[in-house]
Amino acid sequence: KIPLLIDCDPGIDDAIALMIARASDAFEIKGITSVSGNLDIETTTKNIELFAKVLELEAVLARGASEPLVKGKFSAEEVHGSDGLGGASSLFGVSLTGDRIQQNAVDTMRKLLLDEERKTAMVAIGPLTNIALLLKTYPEVKEKIRVISIMGGTLEGGNVTPLSEFNFYVDPEAASIVFQSGVPLMLSGLHMTLDATISEENLEEIRNHPGVLSKPAANMLKNYPGTAHPLHDPCAVLALSHPEIFTYEDLTIHIDTREGASQGMSYKDERPWVEKEPNCRVLMKIHQEQFRRVLVEALAF
Ligand code: BDR
Ligand code: CA
Repeated sequence: KIPLLIDCDPGIDDAIALMIARASDAFEIKGITSVSGNLDIETTTKNIELFAKVLELEAVLARGASEPLVKGKFSAEEVHGSDGLGGASSLFGVSLTGDRIQQNAVDTMRKLLLDEERKTAMVAIGPLTNIALLLKTYPEVKEKIRVISIMGGTLEGGNVTPLSEFNFYVDPEAASIVFQSGVPLMLSGLHMTLDATISEENLEEIRNHPGVLSKPAANMLKNYPGTAHPLHDPCAVLALSHPEIFTYEDLTIHIDTREGASQGMSYKDERPWVEKEPNCRVLMKIHQEQFRRVLVEALAF
């Protein structure tokens, strides 16, 4: 099994990503850290505690950054609801105490990486604030990271601005630090995740499954603006557990941090006459039918 750390801002699609990671035999989930993004840090931290509990995960939980490195806060409450779970949080039927939450995600990630003999994979599905802080504060952890599988950016149009995707728009400086870090990266960008949708029939399949979590999960998905709404974050988990459902290209990716219309934009440098190494394996296309199968099966518990 691959030791795994998940940094997230749940978030409906983040929650589904946690469920998928739990359902897979590929991982040993060692830690889950929260970051502010879709909702404020209080809400995203509550949600990692909620899912650790309902999914019976023993992972270490820690609270991360409450705001981006340089920019002011920017959330997506209108997409994910004020509880971050499309109003479904009470349906999971758990009470939260906060007791399990450690207060410093960066120190927690450092310890989990250094204490583990094997190289650890990381899934980063919120703004990259915590990860950038980790790599800048403790560069010695870099060699303990197998890969960071990121959901963010786009090689085509954006979702928050015409050019920029939410996670990179919220904290472009953090994204830029991570892409310059030299750590092996995989990228699930909007150009691919926009095809990671489920159908109405898939939603019914999930709802009708006898598992205790399938009904609350179906409710959460129902409130995620339409079933055609793409499940971006699960792709970053599946990139590690089901690589066969994607196509890839190794590319050199940069992030624009400058204020203005292109802030947070990701773009590739393909000039053959400029000497450079690819810094990222970019997932280009998803096999939609296979994605739907894996997703429905993973949510059946
Ligand atoms: C990303 O933004 C968030 O709203 C989602 O959780 C996902 O991580 C998609 O742009
Ligand atoms: Ca997210």
